Amino acid sequence: MKAFIEGLPKAELHLHIEGTFEPELMFDIAARNGIQLPYASVEALRKAYDFSELQDFLDIYYQGMNVLLTEQDYFDLTWAYLNKVNADKVRHVEIFFDPQGHTSRGVKFATVIHGIHRALQRAQIEFDLSSKVIMCFLRHLDEADAINTLEEAAEFKHLIAGVGLDSSERGNPPKKFTRVFELARQQGYHIVAHAGEEGPPDYINQALDILKVERIDHGNTAMRDTSLVERLVAEQIPLTVCPLSNLKLCVVENLNQHPLREMLDRGLCATINSDDPAYFGGYMNDNFFAVEAALSLGKQRLAKLARNSFEAAFIGETRKQALLAELDTYLASA
Ligand code: ADE
Ligand code: ZN
Repeated sequence: MKAFIEGLPKAELHLHIEGTFEPELMFDIAARNGIQLPYASVEALRKAYDFSELQDFLDIYYQGMNVLLTEQDYFDLTWAYLNKVNADKVRHVEIFFDPQGHTSRGVKFATVIHGIHRALQRAQIEFDLSSKVIMCFLRHLDEADAINTLEEAAEFKHLIAGVGLDSSERGNPPKKFTRVFELARQQGYHIVAHAGEEGPPDYINQALDILKVERIDHGNTAMRDTSLVERLVAEQIPLTVCPLSNLKLCVVENLNQHPLREMLDRGLCATINSDDPAYFGGYMNDNFFAVEAALSLGKQRLAKLARNSFEAAFIGETRKQALLAELDTYLASA
């Protein structure tokens, strides 16, 4: 099964580029920028990755991204990630970034987006790995800040496919961002939002009804609400599920209790993703290996997860059909 997963063509649709910041690279970049990290060593930093809920992680995640300053920093971060997932047979990625986590420190929007984009262009050429960029609004900040960010992004719209919503979910419902998502929709962005990671099923309904999302990031708590599950199945709204993230952030107690298998068997369009792999103990294939070991999904469900990832991607029909054909060719021989 390990070899089957390793060779399986797949797409990653839920990945925060700032969450791919490995401690070794963080120390290197901090040193070249003359910044002192509040940890004595790479090992000491890794030891701090012990979370009991989302907020514990977010505090460390925002601290980590503070060392990113130059276009080269953003390029190096993104290029390191792309090399890892290319080896995992990831054929298409949709990368989140948190502009407010950078512009609030005085880093220019252009610096961030150009560094990320340059790495994505190189991966397209060297690996035939396609990509899209999605900017997320930080939901612990107010809507006016998100609107300012949307305005700042206008100049770079040709580089950004969609907008999303992330950060502290509890107490920050989707409806807090009604206006900014309406503006983003009018401007032609794709729309996604984190919902149902820690928040109630109602936040998923709000994301669908008010923000008009095309995909739900996470969506775990939907499983508590039968009519919501039925709706997600009927509308085939993709869920970008993140198993190792859920384990590390105590959304599930252990992976044997992860809802992924049930999601698939109930007809939900679930996909597997790594979320913040440097913090959660694994990239794409590590997530596949872990759920296969815990839930015995079998080749058919694993193949469905890969198919769902291509179906749910924000890519043109030509590329989508090419990737689905690549998957079919692989499955015919595997
Ligand atoms: N930002 C980065 N990772 C996140 C997650 N899993 N949930 C909410 N916000 C995030
Ligand atoms: Zn996420």
